[in-house]
Amino acid sequence: MTKSFYITTPIYYVNDVPHIGHAYTTVAADALARYKRLCGYDVFFLTGTDEHGQKVEKAALAAGVAPQQFVDSIVERFRELCTALEASNDDFIRTTEERHKSAATHLWAAIEKSGDIYLGEYEDWYCTPCENFLTEGQLVDMKCPDCGREVERLKEQSYFFALSKYGERLKAHIEANPGFISPKTKRNEVLSFLSEGLRDLSVSRTTFTWGVPVPGDEKHIMYVWIEALTNYLTAAGYPDERYLRYWGESDSEGEHEVVHVIGKDILRFHSVFWPAFLMSAGVPLPTRVFAHGWWTVDGAKMSKSTGNVVDPFEVIKEYGVDQFRYFLLREVRFGLDGDFSIPALVRRTNSELANDLGNLLSRTVSMIEKYCEGIIPAAPAKEELRDELEGPLYALFGTLATDVDECMEKFDPYEALVKIWERVREVNAYIEKTAPWKLAKAEDAALATVLYTLADTLRLFGLFTSPFMPGSAQGIWTQLGITSRVEQSDLKREGSLGAVDISGLKVAKGAPLFPRIDEPSVEPV
Ligand code: MSP
Repeated sequence: MTKSFYITTPIYYVNDVPHIGHAYTTVAADALARYKRLCGYDVFFLTGTDEHGQKVEKAALAAGVAPQQFVDSIVERFRELCTALEASNDDFIRTTEERHKSAATHLWAAIEKSGDIYLGEYEDWYCTPCENFLTEGQLVDMKCPDCGREVERLKEQSYFFALSKYGERLKAHIEANPGFISPKTKRNEVLSFLSEGLRDLSVSRTTFTWGVPVPGDEKHIMYVWIEALTNYLTAAGYPDERYLRYWGESDSEGEHEVVHVIGKDILRFHSVFWPAFLMSAGVPLPTRVFAHGWWTVDGAKMSKSTGNVVDPFEVIKEYGVDQFRYFLLREVRFGLDGDFSIPALVRRTNSELANDLGNLLSRTVSMIEKYCEGIIPAAPAKEELRDELEGPLYALFGTLATDVDECMEKFDPYEALVKIWERVREVNAYIEKTAPWKLAKAEDAALATVLYTLADTLRLFGLFTSPFMPGSAQGIWTQLGITSRVEQSDLKREGSLGAVDISGLKVAKGAPLFPRIDEPSVEPV
């Protein structure tokens, strides 16, 4: 049976520079994608950019360039972010690509064919200088939130999607599939929104041209959300049948998971509008929508005007990509809001990465160099494992794979890291208990058992941390003398102590994996 796992980030608006919010979704989705690959799934990980709409058109105009030229220049920064974060995305979609325009046009036509699109009139507040429709909620003192000028009531011809028809079906789907929206609080929010009843949705505009035209009525441009959401189908290959490789409904021949990782602000688009469009078009629904929380910075909302926007490139350059990835995933439970601060990142790096894991590696490698000429000794036979020392350690590692799996199935990378670090601490305690330096002095044969066990636990730390910190995980393996690529491993087969024989490998001490950061000298970036 084939098992596929399709995971997406939202596509990022190009009228902003990449910030920690973008980095967060990408890192979280990347960790899940990498984990599923280790478990043998056929994984497809998608990210990309959302390039149409009035705001982009205006920004291009202000910059004095054509919109296409404008987006072409900015998109590079988002691609660079993927590289800097070491994201393993299989594709990077841009909504200005032909394949996307074609998919969006197809989806629109399929929805129209089912009778869910009609022409009507859209009425709302309008800011003439900004050429922008605004809902009452967006107004500030009944004035335009962007330019502060008076607004007027205006009507525009618009196509509508018959969203109101889908309320009951959506509710039934969410109730029958408890995992469809998570965390639970967000699921409840959506259910309560649905219980208020749904209004039909305006899905086209005539006030700008930078977008995908409505098929058959080209003065209308598709409302940017209906078009943008389609990106997930585009990249899978829609409307070509091949999109079902990742987007098919699970049956006896295959299991297909389609997961949208998003920020909580765009939950309604993904868990109400998007499934309704798909129901209408006769396309299977995604299996999960996971809404994560938002980051504040030093306790304050991140905003351009306050000037506290965290630049992920700066943090990576200064503190290291894996330190950043680890912090994002370990600081807050996925789904909750969190606060980003450099002192907190430094604290975690020093205590959990440098002290707990980094030191463990360097001590182990040093001892193997000093006492065994750099060669990992022979693996202990079963009877050499002592009940009071290796016994409990082997037992603890025996449940590591299932513990981590349970967490990752729940999309809880935070807890997965907690579980891994419980073991890291236990191995550090094992060194203190067994005192290999004393065994070496006494020429005790148990030294080989201890050093092998230590090296083997580090092999597993490399394997299990690789979805979260791919580069450092490989670094652990390199110092142990393992030459294969950690991401090509099979977690189920190799994920326990003794599953792979690493005796005879030549260790090679390298630079510290996670250099300690000097706390007082750290300036906020
Ligand atoms: N283009 C739309 C998404 C369309 S998907 C079909 C969009 N883009 S965005 O660039 O504004 O936001 C992208 C993601 O960044 C969202 O998931 C949003 O929640 C996330 N974040 C933006 N600021 C954030 C924080 N301060 N903290 C965490 N994530 C935040 O919305």
